[in-house]
Amino acid sequence: MNPAAPLLFFDSGVGGLSVLRPTLALLPTAPIVYVADNAGFPYGARSEADIAERVPALLEPLVERFHPRLVVIACNTASTIALDHARSALDLPVVGTVPAIKPAAEMSRSRVIGVLGTQATVRQPYVDDLAARFAADCTVIRHGSPELVELAEAKLAGEAVSVKAVRAAAQPMFDADRGAEIDVVVLACTHFPLLDEELRSAFPSVALIDGGPGIARRIAYLTRDQAWPEAPPPGIALFTGAPPSGPLRHSLARFALEDIRLL
Ligand code: DGL
Repeated sequence: MNPAAPLLFFDSGVGGLSVLRPTLALLPTAPIVYVADNAGFPYGARSEADIAERVPALLEPLVERFHPRLVVIACNTASTIALDHARSALDLPVVGTVPAIKPAAEMSRSRVIGVLGTQATVRQPYVDDLAARFAADCTVIRHGSPELVELAEAKLAGEAVSVKAVRAAAQPMFDADRGAEIDVVVLACTHFPLLDEELRSAFPSVALIDGGPGIARRIAYLTRDQAWPEAPPPGIALFTGAPPSGPLRHSLARFALEDIRLL
């Protein structure tokens, strides 16, 4: 494996950074290409057919252009809908990000767990299947929150995000039937770990499950015998729509994403 071959991260926006962070903790010199389909954002409001077509269509030319060693679909919405489509279109390992229902069910004492994602993710049969396989004895309460996705984007763009706004966005899940019994919440959207502090302040008695570190371990495992550069090369961030100008560039720089371009 060419040490310069990158890991290619894909999301609709900045959410994939929550998967990139633990990945860089394990693989600090990994070359990174981060792709944000901001022209298609938000994915949570898109149809299944649209995402199933759009994601492989974007990934195919990116793979030809950057020759990544592996693709990470760092988006629950894209993964729960389009992972199989992407895997059949691409001839390299594709790691998906799907709701961490299994560890949540293992941890819950009340046997009532919350799944907080986008509107599109929470209605997926993929989620029904995870709930049936790993949380059959739990009540699984799902809530789709486009507001939290927007709040995470705003936070990384340097705007002030209040705990009050974060609480209001997730509260309907706790107001649902048996919602008051939820003791573990799966952050089933990669944007949401970016609001970790605010979510912890808003719901201090609830455990939050972030699938990111598990995805990072999977990436490290799949690339375990491969060569890496000796020092971290500057990362590339590509945007399908207008690339960011202001403070978001500083947020990207914190992940060593310094070469910011339009796709
Ligand atoms: N980050 C994405 C996810 O994990 C989607 C956010 C959006 O575009 O709605 O689902």
